[in-house]
Amino acid sequence: MLDQKQALTEEDLDLAPLDAVLDELAGQDGAVIPALQKAQGIFGYLPTRVIKHIAKRLHASEAQVYGVATFYAQFYLARQGRHSVRCCDGTACHVRGAPKVIQALEQDLGIAAGETTPDYRVTLEVVYCLGSCGLAPVMVIDGQVVGRLVPDKAVQLVRQLV
Ligand code: FES
Repeated sequence: MLDQKQALTEEDLDLAPLDAVLDELAGQDGAVIPALQKAQGIFGYLPTRVIKHIAKRLHASEAQVYGVATFYAQFYLARQGRHSVRCCDGTACHVRGAPKVIQALEQDLGIAAGETTPDYRVTLEVVYCLGSCGLAPVMVIDGQVVGRLVPDKAVQLVRQLV
C-alpha cells in the first residue's frame, strides 16, 4: 500500500509527456515494453497510476502491463533513491567478502538489500556478477564501478552520497 507522501506524488503526476509517447506507440505491436521504458525514463519508476494509464491507452489489461513490468528486472514499481548502489554477490565477489560489505551497508543505511532509504537518498541492490570479477568485491555507485572493497570503505563511499 502506498504511503501518503507517495500517493500525493502519484496524484500530482503530469501524464502529458507520457501521452505524447503513447500517441506515437498506440496501435503498434509490442508497444507495452517501449511504453514502460519511456514512462520510467519520465517518472523514474512506474507508479500504479502510470501502469493503469498505459493499459488504458494501449487497450491492454492492467494485468498484462503489470505482468511485463514485473517480469523484467529493468522496471521499478517503487520509487527509487536518488543514488543507486548495486553490490555484487556473484561467486568471485562472494568468496572475497561481499556478504560482509552488503551487511555493513544494510546496517549503516538501516535498510535491507532491495530497499530504498525512507528519505529516498539511496537504493541498495544486490546483483550477481557485474563483469569486473578481477576487482572483487565490487559495487557500482550511480553507474561507477568501485572494486577491492572492504566494509568500511563501502560505508564511507555511500555516506558521501547526498
Ligand atoms: S562476481 Fe562480482 S563482478 Fe563478477
